[in-house]
Amino acid sequence: QPVRLSDYRPPTHTIDEVALTVRLAPQKTLVSARLKVRPNPKSDAGPDAPLVLDGEAIELRGIMLDGVPLAQGDYAVTDESLTIARVPAGPFELEIETACNPEANTALSGLYRSNGTYCTQCEAQGFRRITYYPDRPDVLARFTTRIEARRSDAPVLLANGNLVDSGEIEGTEKHYAVWEDPFPKPAYLFALVAGNLAVFEDSFTTMSGREVALKIYVEPGKEDRCAWAMASLKSAMRWDEETFGREYDLDIFMIVAVPDFNMGAMENKGLNVFNDKYILARPDTATDQDYANIERIIAHEYFHNWTGNRITCRDWFQLCLKEGLTVFRDQEFSSDVRSRPVRRISDVRLLRSQQFSEDAGPLAHPVRPSSYIEINNFYTATVYEKGAEVVRMLHTLIGGQAFRAGMDLYFARHDGEAVTMEDFVACMAEASGRDLSQFFAWYEQAGTPRLIVTDSYDETAGTYSLTVAQETPPTPDQPDKKPLDIPFAVGLVGPDGQEMPLVLDGEGAMERPVLELTQREQTFRFRDVAARPVPSLNRGFSAPVRLETDLGDGDWLFLMSHDSDPFNRWEAAQIYAKRLLIRLAGDASSGAPLADAPDFAEALGRSLRDQSLEPAFKAELLGLPSETDLAGEIARNVDPQAIHDARRHLQASLGRALSGELQDIYERFATSGPYSPDADSAGRRGLRNAALGLIAMADGERGAAQAFEHFRTAENMTDTIAALSALTRTNRPERDRALDAFYAAHSGDHLLVDKWLMLNAAIPFPETLERVRTLMEHEAFSITRPNNVRALIGAFAGLNPATFNDPSGDGYRLLADVVLELDPLNPQVAARLSGSFKTWRMLEPGRRALAKAEIERIRACKTLSRDVYEIVTRILG
Ligand code: ARG
Ligand code: ZN
Repeated sequence: QPVRLSDYRPPTHTIDEVALTVRLAPQKTLVSARLKVRPNPKSDAGPDAPLVLDGEAIELRGIMLDGVPLAQGDYAVTDESLTIARVPAGPFELEIETACNPEANTALSGLYRSNGTYCTQCEAQGFRRITYYPDRPDVLARFTTRIEARRSDAPVLLANGNLVDSGEIEGTEKHYAVWEDPFPKPAYLFALVAGNLAVFEDSFTTMSGREVALKIYVEPGKEDRCAWAMASLKSAMRWDEETFGREYDLDIFMIVAVPDFNMGAMENKGLNVFNDKYILARPDTATDQDYANIERIIAHEYFHNWTGNRITCRDWFQLCLKEGLTVFRDQEFSSDVRSRPVRRISDVRLLRSQQFSEDAGPLAHPVRPSSYIEINNFYTATVYEKGAEVVRMLHTLIGGQAFRAGMDLYFARHDGEAVTMEDFVACMAEASGRDLSQFFAWYEQAGTPRLIVTDSYDETAGTYSLTVAQETPPTPDQPDKKPLDIPFAVGLVGPDGQEMPLVLDGEGAMERPVLELTQREQTFRFRDVAARPVPSLNRGFSAPVRLETDLGDGDWLFLMSHDSDPFNRWEAAQIYAKRLLIRLAGDASSGAPLADAPDFAEALGRSLRDQSLEPAFKAELLGLPSETDLAGEIARNVDPQAIHDARRHLQASLGRALSGELQDIYERFATSGPYSPDADSAGRRGLRNAALGLIAMADGERGAAQAFEHFRTAENMTDTIAALSALTRTNRPERDRALDAFYAAHSGDHLLVDKWLMLNAAIPFPETLERVRTLMEHEAFSITRPNNVRALIGAFAGLNPATFNDPSGDGYRLLADVVLELDPLNPQVAARLSGSFKTWRMLEPGRRALAKAEIERIRACKTLSRDVYEIVTRILG
């Protein structure tokens, strides 16, 4: 029963105003909704169409139309809807009384309780679990929310918009608050929070001089962990003014941090709700990575106020309209406030490990899907990360100025509307004067394109040619692919390491070093090329493609030291390492001895000594391609253990070959003085900790001792976790000593307990299977807390491929057991976990059969949620 984009029809009715009264009680919350409804003139169903409202897991207690109670026969209720067959042909008012049970809501969609705090999650379709409503993004209404609760139960009462009234309810122990949101919005942006919360406050003066109150609400006692989130919010607000001319639009902006949340965070109008791991930070509780994530996600949710809230999606197929664009915006933000190449590298790492693997398997789908069974399954790396890449390509193709003009036009034309990808791209086309119709296929065509590049040099003519062929592999339901419009940034590096000019034969010097690929095969000829260059291709990862070239190992080592594009220096090292690791994995598989890599070690050593490179960049150079990436490159008959062994071997071998440089870095980058989370300090710690990681791999006994000493003397959480993660890759007694000490010290802090669960789950040895099963019974673990599940089970399946893919099949069995146990409680998180099986077809036959049997065992369950059902049937194909 899939929903299809081609079936889209405008809503039969629109809602102008919603007045909600929510009487909170743990097991029986009463909601009364007064809706001002009218037939939608744009509907093709005519004014006498029946009114169909969505509703799920709520109890209907009464319904009145224009003040008259409806009788039983006037309406029909199912598990999913409320239908009123005959409604007035003009405007009318509907009053609906319902009840719901927040405490029993383990799905964490709709109104639920997180550690005693009432909170909501309505995207994508949670509002229907609060009241009957046309729960679709193209119905925009003005909301007023009155919340009532016992003061002892919930002293703080929050909803979207501005607080317009509050007080005691006489004769009771209850109080109330009334919030009014002046901006029409779809129901998915509704939010309500109530509980015993502490607040961390600040304020921001917007570019036009308006004062905005900023408030971050957290569990009492956590106020001292909010400063970084607040600083990040203010810097994001300023950046959006300076970069896109976007100013905040209400008098108050609130963020609430809760421990139980299905995703990272949510951009509800004026009242963002966050997973608390993306808010709370103090040097002794959060790592540099946590600080960077907080800054990025705070910015992301804040930026949604314009790209998502003021202009929203017409339907859920257009999810990338707000997500791809907003990820692009948060990437640009961190690139401006931190290091651009380092952020680009981490985005490309994420894209490769999450999105390329998705695009190469049974879950592949276009950035704008054309059908779904459960929309929550489409909050994917493809919609988010590839969606951001598509926006970035637009930016590259039309240039920064035209892009900004296109954004201005988009805001001016569509403010207050629910629109489509076509509307967005039309603004870019108009602002740039370019035809973007071929480009649009990036939104509709799944799969990662392959670019096959060959070159030739004519010494006598002084010309150099690049021939680029493009090809997108078939994906589910899309056997044939059209050629795409691809911005392909290139440079030519001369034999002396200097950049050569780019002069296209017959066209003259290139204005910008970007070739535009539009055909299945194209040749570009450059003239005035005095010597045979080494091409630097797809600079800055200008397009999300796989590249095939006939460059050899020597060329990659050359680019690694000489490319003027920092991203491509890193990329050259990755490609070199990938080729090496794939050869080593082949040797490991066949039991052949594994060789060392002196040339690679030497080139890395040179980069480590290069004073012009920043420490964070050097840390990235030391990070080898992940086991998941390597599996994806190998793609057939994958042996995850051989990949793991190869990677371990290379790390140990590099650790030995570079021991002098690494120890030197370890000594020189020791920090003193108070911790500062800024990017430079973080980069120095990152390089030092990357060095420690290789040292620990190189020499079992001494390495483990050094890592343990690092753990013992660490003065911030970054160093503590770095030491632990170095230790978890060893099989030495220091590892469990350190893990035990960490738990003993931090068992009262749920965020640190999650880090501990994750470290345990990532130990890359077979005994971890038993360890994970045991930890599921530990007091620290609860299957109803998504962060626990992601930290233990998600990390086991995602970060520990060798053990998850244990040849016994026990890892698959464990995951299937958890999916089946979790599905009735929280289908969204269960579905996400079941996605860990997505690469099963690539495995060697033995593991493939075992994995398949476990996926089939899940599918055989008669009571599967829509969420898990859709994922496992697509995975099995
Ligand atoms: N819109 C949120 C964000 O990316 C994601 C929330 C999605 N939640 C869900 N249950 N599908 O910022
Ligand atoms: Zn988002």
